[in-house]
Amino acid sequence: ADALKIGIAGLGTVGASLARILQTRANALAIACGRPLTITAVSARSKGKDRGFDLDGIAWFDDPMDMAEKADIDVFVELIGGAEGAADQSVRAALSRGLHVVTANKALLAKHGVALARMAEEKGLLLNYEAAVAGGIPVIKTLRESLTGNHFSRLYGIMNGTCNYILTRMEKEGLSFADCLKEAQRLGYAEADPTFDIEGNDTAHKLAILTTLAFGSQIAADEIYLEGISNISIDDIQAAHDLGYRIKLLGVALKTATGIEQRVHPTMVPLDSVIAQVDGVTNAVALESDILGELLMVGPGAGGNATASAVLGDITDIAKSRPGAQQVPILGRPAHLLEPYAKAE
Ligand code: NDP
Ligand code: HSE
Repeated sequence: ADALKIGIAGLGTVGASLARILQTRANALAIACGRPLTITAVSARSKGKDRGFDLDGIAWFDDPMDMAEKADIDVFVELIGGAEGAADQSVRAALSRGLHVVTANKALLAKHGVALARMAEEKGLLLNYEAAVAGGIPVIKTLRESLTGNHFSRLYGIMNGTCNYILTRMEKEGLSFADCLKEAQRLGYAEADPTFDIEGNDTAHKLAILTTLAFGSQIAADEIYLEGISNISIDDIQAAHDLGYRIKLLGVALKTATGIEQRVHPTMVPLDSVIAQVDGVTNAVALESDILGELLMVGPGAGGNATASAVLGDITDIAKSRPGAQQVPILGRPAHLLEPYAKAE
């Protein structure tokens, strides 16, 4: 069968990991998908950087817009980041041109997800974004595909690896907030602008996406009560511990009689709860629904390989998809059928 031709825009922590995996696992992936997966184009800012994979035979684009508009590709993989600018423009250009899109960009989806989903659905294209929420945990696929028909009452979780890493090391090793953040940045967990992590915006972006998938409403990241962890001190962590609690940054969404309540804030969780045991860069997402009951998913929340694993799953889904087949709605239900967002009173 014809190869799936892949263009990767953004070759940082996630993009370079993905490219390395696609090259080193090429044979196994071709067998699993029934066709080769070939990187034919890439884009980043600095061409000279060694990124640990072989660029021979791959077209280089300084501008991701050029790649979206001109490259010989079937799927445009956006791993640049940011809600506006290069990521937004190039994803729209790719969809306009009829390319499938894979992205890990929760900021982009929290802001423009409904519009992008509509564009993709009108053209019968796939827009996959498993890595955008909770890193390597397959929570998007679970909500989009596995739990269809369930009515959700609540979802909550630890959705930012950087914050959980900082809180864990502050508690267990007594390290300063600033040193833990620096280390999270060095390990590739943090956003390009880490205030998005520590002030809770990144968790809010992810929560807003999960809320839409669970409750069928428009994405409403701006309606979320937001409080980050930048004011948490080691004394706060110790005081919570003395009372039998651990501090975690949680995102919570509830369906109430009057609407949806969404909030992100540091939360005291009992030391003996499962969520209190979730350490370091690990994330956890709990989903409560009427048919299934409670599901708790725990796994790697950030980092090159864990995130690339989710992106790779999105790409292999595209490689295995049949042209013209009915697609799973991108946001859980067709984007034009999402309900207006009603904020709980
Ligand atoms: P990085 O900052 O490591 O990489 C960003 C890449 O985009 C770099 O290769 C950079 O080029 C390139 N880039 C930036 N601006 C432009 C531009 N204007 N034109 C062309 N290329 C550009 O980010 P990450 O890999 O960490 O994250 C990528 C995406 O994945 C983001 O949306 C992030 O939120 C998301 N994500 C990240 C996770 C993680 O653990 N890191 C986990 C889950 C999601 P150059 O290298 O030349 O500077
Ligand atoms: N900065 C994010 C985090 C990356 O730390 O969770 C994964 O989305």
